[in-house]
Amino acid sequence: MDTLTEIFTFQAPTTITFGAGALRQLAQVVGPLGRRPLVVTDPGIAASGILQQVVDALAPVVAGVETFSDVEPNPSSETVERAAAAYRRADCDCLVAAGGGSAMDVAKVAAALVSYGGAVRDYEGVGKVPGPTVPVVAVPTTAGTGSEVTVFAIITDRARKVKMVIGSPHILPAAAVCDPLLTLSMPQPLTAATGIDALVHGIECYINTVVNPLAKSLALESIRLIGRSLRTAYAHGRDLEARYQMLLGSTIAALAFTRTRLGNVHAMALPLGAHFDVPHGVATGLLLPYVMEWNLIACTTTYPQIAAALGEPTEGLPPRAASEVAVEAVRQLNADIGIPERLRDVGVTRDAMPALADDSMKSGNIAVNPRLTRREDIVHLFEQAF
Ligand SMILES: [Fe+2]
Repeated sequence: MDTLTEIFTFQAPTTITFGAGALRQLAQVVGPLGRRPLVVTDPGIAASGILQQVVDALAPVVAGVETFSDVEPNPSSETVERAAAAYRRADCDCLVAAGGGSAMDVAKVAAALVSYGGAVRDYEGVGKVPGPTVPVVAVPTTAGTGSEVTVFAIITDRARKVKMVIGSPHILPAAAVCDPLLTLSMPQPLTAATGIDALVHGIECYINTVVNPLAKSLALESIRLIGRSLRTAYAHGRDLEARYQMLLGSTIAALAFTRTRLGNVHAMALPLGAHFDVPHGVATGLLLPYVMEWNLIACTTTYPQIAAALGEPTEGLPPRAASEVAVEAVRQLNADIGIPERLRDVGVTRDAMPALADDSMKSGNIAVNPRLTRREDIVHLFEQAF
């Protein structure tokens, strides 16, 4: 990209309230938006006591709170439709999503359904939501997806075995309340999977072909924050400083990529979720070193900066060697936090490779990957990771 003549726009309209204890400000945030929220969450958050904290925080400004706590990992269109039905039944006027990407994505698409009717499939693709929806306030409880500030939601169509991407500025949450205290109790595997996914967002955004200078600076900062805090957050989950930096890093990474898209890792990870229910972060983390290695010849100006942001010494190294340091750093990080090394370790079978490759090629992320990618390249990458 010729950076001097490229004209870019940057838009991040979600109001972000961030900090340890930010949940206390939820009433102030929701108050102007609605009086009868539907809180969308998952059974784990309901059992952990966080749902009750959210309900209590809302109490000063609401006439009543409805809850929908049936969101599952890799959530389905049926779940979105059930959440929308709960919203209509209770005559709600806004949505509060408390949880990880799954709960937030369900709430974002349910907002479209209750505003414009139809089925989830009607909104599949980019730009299918016709206008503003009822407001959504996102309260992330993981540091990973960044869905609190993105225009995307991923919903699984179980009948077709497809993870549908729904992308529209109209499903951006009106507000996000990001409180690292809510992430302290995440178990280790969830910390690892969601945290590495946030790093993948930063890296794929930083190296892709449509990144702009503003997104690039955010992406690099997210890599730096995650690089220095993910191991600590994994090793010692109650470390508030590490949790703070992880949540900040994941939100910043999402601000960076929401309008630029990602790359081959995400193109390949979605079918793994759809066909084998591999958790999104496990899929992206596992694939990252393989895709980075393959992309290396296109990234010898960007990888050295990624290596440096990850805290690796690169001084005096020629670009190629410094780039290899970045790939090795990511591989070591995966090993340290227990991300599996092979697709066969997460239940993927070899006979699915052709279908996985076909589905990967349908992703809009292929076109922005730094190295030109054909179907046989994706097959090669899946084979390598297998
Ligand atoms: Fe992701």
